Amino acid sequence: MTGQARQDIQWVNRPVSEVFGVRVAADVDVLVRQGRTEEVPAINPDYRFCLDSLRVIHGFFLSMDRCMQLVGHKGCGKTTLVEQYHARTNIPLIQYTAHPRTELDDLLGHFVMTQSGGMRFHEGPVLRAAKQGLSVLVDEFNVMDPGVATGLNAILQGGGRFYVPQTEESVSPHPEFRFFATGNMDEGKGLYAGRQRQDVANDDRFWFWKLDYPGPDYEVPLVQAIFEAAHLDVATARTMAMKCVDVANKLREQFIGVSDAADALEVTMSTRSLIRWARLMTIFRHVVRLGQEPVHFALEVALTHRPIDPSTKLAIHAIVESVFNVPFSA
Ligand SMILES: Nc1ncnc2c1ncn2[C@@H]1O[C@H](COP(=O)(O)OP(=O)(O)OP(=O)(O)O)[C@@H](O)[C@H]1O
Ligand SMILES: [Mg+2]
Repeated sequence: MTGQARQDIQWVNRPVSEVFGVRVAADVDVLVRQGRTEEVPAINPDYRFCLDSLRVIHGFFLSMDRCMQLVGHKGCGKTTLVEQYHARTNIPLIQYTAHPRTELDDLLGHFVMTQSGGMRFHEGPVLRAAKQGLSVLVDEFNVMDPGVATGLNAILQGGGRFYVPQTEESVSPHPEFRFFATGNMDEGKGLYAGRQRQDVANDDRFWFWKLDYPGPDYEVPLVQAIFEAAHLDVATARTMAMKCVDVANKLREQFIGVSDAADALEVTMSTRSLIRWARLMTIFRHVVRLGQEPVHFALEVALTHRPIDPSTKLAIHAIVESVFNVPFSA
């Protein structure tokens, strides 16, 4: 095993199959950072890397470019992809969730009062990552005011130094600094509240990668594992998982974000909701004794008790009825 120094950081080579748990034709080596710090995200052993996404995020790291933005519908795995890549490669990741009132100072830093009554500069996540050669992930990037994102342009620019007006210092970003952003894809359909178009100069600094829901090859084993953990036998767990994923994909096809049909659904099922539905089915499996069907009861709690149109709710449960062959009583 070879040790390498890229800047001041020690890296070791490990086979890609071992690091990411994927099967690949040619098992090349990838660089894994040595030493695990508190800021490295925890490994989710159930996470399964989609090869396309893994190839892109890994290529991004190799390129030494600085900014990558992941877009896609809610709950399709944008944040988790970034977290799990870092978890497996031991790269520290600072996470920040943006909101409409996020200001540049929240990202770069601001002065805080010390106990002795003086002032101390508190570095924000982006400045700290830039100086220390860490990654930073700004989730919900496109809810931020475009002016704030534009204020990051200098720091997001590859190479060069940037000026921090608050401290009057000129900073050279560490070559290992990476900036990730995630955002929901609205495509002008008004599906997500408060999403803003960022300015084109800001967009121009990013690699973009669009994620879709992971697909049955990934979601079926995920859901099957939930049923197996609740002591269903393997065959039943697999059949149940396939049905759940089938329902999810039917809902996704009919979602207004995808379908232009007049009766398109205002609700879809993210991987997050799918996992929740399966977990709730195991938790509420005993409601059958009360005359309720766990598959529908769990779906109500996981998804359809939200403030949605009653006809949408019925349409969703009708899909479940057709796949599971279990009647729904509203
Ligand atoms: N490939 C995968 N393997 C295992 N679990 C996954 C995978 N992709 C997504 N998930 C799970 O799906 C859920 C949603 O993922 P995540 O939070 O990353 O979505 P997101 O796209 O960032 O959502 P949002 O747009 O709401 O921020 C998480 O529980 C995550 O662990
Ligand atoms: Mg997210």
